[in-house]
Amino acid sequence: MQFLDGLKLSKEIKEEIKQEVDLLIEQGKKTPHLAAILVGQNGASQTYVSSKIKDCEQVGFQSTLVELDETISQKELIAEIQKLNENDEIDGFIVQLPLPKHIDQEEVINAIDPKKDVDGFHPANFGKMALDMEAFIPATPFGILQLLSRYQIPTKGKHVVVIGRSRIVGKPMSILMGRKDYPGDCTVTLVHSSSENIENFTKQADIVITALGVPNFLKGEMIKDEVVIVDVGITRVEDATATKGYRIAGDVDFDSVRDKASWITPVPGGVGPMTRAMLLQNTLLAYKRNS
Ligand code: GUN
Repeated sequence: MQFLDGLKLSKEIKEEIKQEVDLLIEQGKKTPHLAAILVGQNGASQTYVSSKIKDCEQVGFQSTLVELDETISQKELIAEIQKLNENDEIDGFIVQLPLPKHIDQEEVINAIDPKKDVDGFHPANFGKMALDMEAFIPATPFGILQLLSRYQIPTKGKHVVVIGRSRIVGKPMSILMGRKDYPGDCTVTLVHSSSENIENFTKQADIVITALGVPNFLKGEMIKDEVVIVDVGITRVEDATATKGYRIAGDVDFDSVRDKASWITPVPGGVGPMTRAMLLQNTLLAYKRNS
């Protein structure tokens, strides 16, 4: 079994981005600028957003963090989005999810200018992605495609089983793996929380992409030999021995699959860092498309 090393690959991608930014600086040009809207005090969201800001610093991007109170109204939040839509200094921005319960997430995402939607969550981007048109691909699926292609994992004609149908990972991933171009051209099965006998499908898979958020869900007896496993799970589980009091667990029961899988993404150090790198890549793309 070998690792699809997302940490190593993300560093290479960030280095490539940094070199492009250095060139822009040399040419006296404006540097790419990413903004993030964070609503409320969700601990995981705060961590993710501060990582994204740190990543911007690393590659030489400008960044802006817009922190808003948990009690902000829908109207006020959309007004903040409009400001970013109209701000020519900002190339792309994200609204960190989840949002507080009183906010209509769909309406918020719809308010983002698709040209600045570097998360690729706007229906216009999602639709274009599904139709093979130029679009922003959500960072996690985009990162998984990069992992598969840079490790030259064969995908044409293979059977991929995607576990989970979220708008951020499972749904776009299932569409992307079915597209004709590499890495894709797969036979795709999408299973989810209502699927019966999931193991009947995973046992037939050449590639399993699991984005369920249930630690140890995928076990050795559910897969065939030589399978490629992409583990998108990032569940916080209590661990008194860990410095923060918790550790990050993937969806895969690692010990039971290690002798069967040919390739696997580690958790942490697999998909997570790739997601972060691809948000930077999308911001650079937005900069190039809009300037
Ligand atoms: N919450 C969890 N993942 C993401 C992401 O990729 N983008 C945003 N905006 N929110 C998230």
